[in-house]
Amino acid sequence: MVETTITAIKADIGSLAGHVVVPDFILEIARKSLKEAVEKKIINDFYVTHAGDDLELIMTHSKGEDNEDVHKLAWDTFMKGTEKARELKIYAAGQDILSDTFSGNVKGMGPGSAEMTIEERKSEPIGIFCADKTEPGCFNLPLFRMYADPFNTAGLIIDPNLHDGFRFVVQDIKKEVPCFIEMKCPEEMYDLLALIGSTGTYTIRKVYRADGLITAAVSTDKLHKIAGKYVGKDDPVAIVRAHSGLPAMGEVLEAFSLPHLVSGWMRGSHAGPLMPVGLKDSRCTRFDGPPRVIGLGFQVSNGRLIGPIDMFEDVAFDISRQRAMEIADYLRRHGPFMPHRLHDMDMEYTTLPGVLTKCEARFVEEEPSSEGKARDTSESAE
Ligand code: F6R
Ligand code: MG
Ligand code: MG
Repeated sequence: MVETTITAIKADIGSLAGHVVVPDFILEIARKSLKEAVEKKIINDFYVTHAGDDLELIMTHSKGEDNEDVHKLAWDTFMKGTEKARELKIYAAGQDILSDTFSGNVKGMGPGSAEMTIEERKSEPIGIFCADKTEPGCFNLPLFRMYADPFNTAGLIIDPNLHDGFRFVVQDIKKEVPCFIEMKCPEEMYDLLALIGSTGTYTIRKVYRADGLITAAVSTDKLHKIAGKYVGKDDPVAIVRAHSGLPAMGEVLEAFSLPHLVSGWMRGSHAGPLMPVGLKDSRCTRFDGPPRVIGLGFQVSNGRLIGPIDMFEDVAFDISRQRAMEIADYLRRHGPFMPHRLHDMDMEYTTLPGVLTKCEARFVEEEPSSEGKARDTSESAE
């Protein structure tokens, strides 16, 4: 049995013409860096892509999760890209790099990471989902639908291998120190939904089949939580295994057919529909969005990645895209009003309190008169 670790690490280290798209030269730098790492046997294989303005490094190796060499490779690759991006004055160059020095693991340093170690099955189809202009909780709804909703996943009813259900590991991402709870579905479905419906606080980190088989992993790194103030966006990545006792790839993809509302659009401060797109549309434009997700299908084969196939680049998702664009258009009409604009507590940008504090000082207890000032009762009493 071959044991392979799949590591997806992403960072926004600069993008073209604003927060729109990763420039080609950054992708090339990343490919060169990871190719050299294959030659040095740090990793077995890789695929470099982007979700809007986020550079995505998808790697396979046999070193296990949280491996220092692999994380350092990702870090060094981001540093190389950042250096060139700074030289060319690319917008927001080095945005997600929160430190000058690497300290063993990319966690807590800006980039986001999702990892899983698998014993390769006879055939190992996986999907890598990368989202832009949103937050890690954007995967809560699709993952719930994949593993717990029989209206999405026919296998939950039809396939006896899925009947025992799935275990969800949920992280409280508002806590400074990572903090997890495990819940079993279908038994604890209502409690699970009570948590993961609050997408800005409780994020699905991993999903296991009832017997312990790992099946999904999500990057849960919350950038503004790490830095204490807004520095960038925590656009996430998810790894999902499919078939042979797990949801079929079609059931995995079906979970993205609803362009559900997610947080993180424009300045990390607005809600918008998550639109599934092919790689050619992986660039955020209208109001910096709408939020998008790409889906790449691979076969993991003896530690190598075969593929990918660009799974949302298909007419079957045109209807989801159309719906997403209509929802986006409708929401935009709300301008600065909630719920399109997020509640102050949920905004990634931490600048609004400053604006509100300025107004706060001008609040008076007496209602202003028609002259525009609060009536001065002491004067009128004389
Ligand atoms: C950031 C992002 C964008 C920006 C927005 C404002 O990664 O995705 O939505 O928040 O374009 O950008 P700044 O603050 O750089 O002017
Ligand atoms: Mg950006
Ligand atoms: Mg981004």
